[in-house]
Amino acid sequence: MRTLVVAGARPNFMKVAPIIACLGGSEHEVVLVHTGQHYDDLMSDTFFRDLGMPAPDHYLGVGSASHAAQTARVMESFEPVLLSVRPDWVVVVGDVNSTLACALVAAKLREELGCGIAHVEAGLRSRDWRMPEEVNRVLTDRLSNLLLVPSRDASANLRAEGIEEERIAFAGNVMVDTLLAQLPRARTLDTQERLGVTRGAYALVTLHRPSNVDEPHSLGSILEALAEVAKEMPVVFPVHPRTRMRTVEFGLQWALERLVTIEPLGYHEMLCMTDGAATVLTDSGGLQEETTVLGVPCVTLREQTERPITVQAGTNRLAPWPLEVEGIRSAVRAALQSGRQAVGSCAPEGWDGRAAHRIVRELRSRTPVRVAPLVAQGFDSR
Ligand code: UD1
Repeated sequence: MRTLVVAGARPNFMKVAPIIACLGGSEHEVVLVHTGQHYDDLMSDTFFRDLGMPAPDHYLGVGSASHAAQTARVMESFEPVLLSVRPDWVVVVGDVNSTLACALVAAKLREELGCGIAHVEAGLRSRDWRMPEEVNRVLTDRLSNLLLVPSRDASANLRAEGIEEERIAFAGNVMVDTLLAQLPRARTLDTQERLGVTRGAYALVTLHRPSNVDEPHSLGSILEALAEVAKEMPVVFPVHPRTRMRTVEFGLQWALERLVTIEPLGYHEMLCMTDGAATVLTDSGGLQEETTVLGVPCVTLREQTERPITVQAGTNRLAPWPLEVEGIRSAVRAALQSGRQAVGSCAPEGWDGRAAHRIVRELRSRTPVRVAPLVAQGFDSR
């Protein structure tokens, strides 16, 4: 069996690493395609090194562009690769532009090549169609034969959209496989010392969603709130390239002065910092999940989350919307009061380090002849 695995952007790499490791073996050939959506060392290569991943077999080098141009570039460069590799399965993960672009190419060639499409992290829904990721998620799910869900609520979302039961399989959260495997190593690092902060006594921030950072008022309010929090405890802020660019464009550099701003961190250093934080403020989906497993209180700077299980079962809370200085501060106070939980104590079902095994078991048991039919009542994914 031959499986083509796609990765494109930072949050993909920790999801594909355990799948590739688990797929490895003499009877199973793995071909890794990196689209190059993220390309800086700190956004890409460092994760390959940290996670001991093999170099990609194909690097498409698409780079940054508008949504349409980036998606189109991935599609154009992926098509010849798919035609030459002719895999049994195409595995796409998450909800970035590369995920949708490759699923779309594979869907058009599925009959010709006889391959199936598997979507890892299927079924998450924010129900906010202004988010590019929501568009990517829903369409990728429609295009995929096998929908590997990270939590039971995601299966319910898919059923409610009329997706047939036989296309849905419970996988659990594959990112947690990487987290649990790498946590001991992350805990040996001295990142806090290097940054001049003390374990358990700082807030960690990440921010990159277009809805938060592409508009001067919302970016300004969030940065002002962070400056207020920084009066009470150090605030460490690894700044995403998009956010760095916008801060300069909007003349908001002054608001960063009280914060410990640093370049994006590699996987182990970021895990070390998350694990040691008193609280995390973020608009990232991955960090909502990671803090849930680590038991670290998290304040999510979004109107809603496609990962409600991190609020119901985990340590996550949404800051009051719309984001304003006082609302963010009070959410941070509540998070700090709630305190830290033991690692794994709030982890939802299947966030246990075994998700890649369940994914590979599904791929092996269904390929190639038992791929589920695509036609559902009223929802023909073709
Ligand atoms: C993308 C994903 C988002 C994910 C995020 C994680 C989509 C629609 N969005 O958003 O879901 O949460 O990645 O980081 O796929 N840039 C660099 N170096 C890089 C990559 C990007 O400097 O290696 C800069 C470029 O100026 C680029 C901007 O960051 O225009 C945004 O990058 P892009 O990949 O378009 O979107 P992200 O905001 O990173």
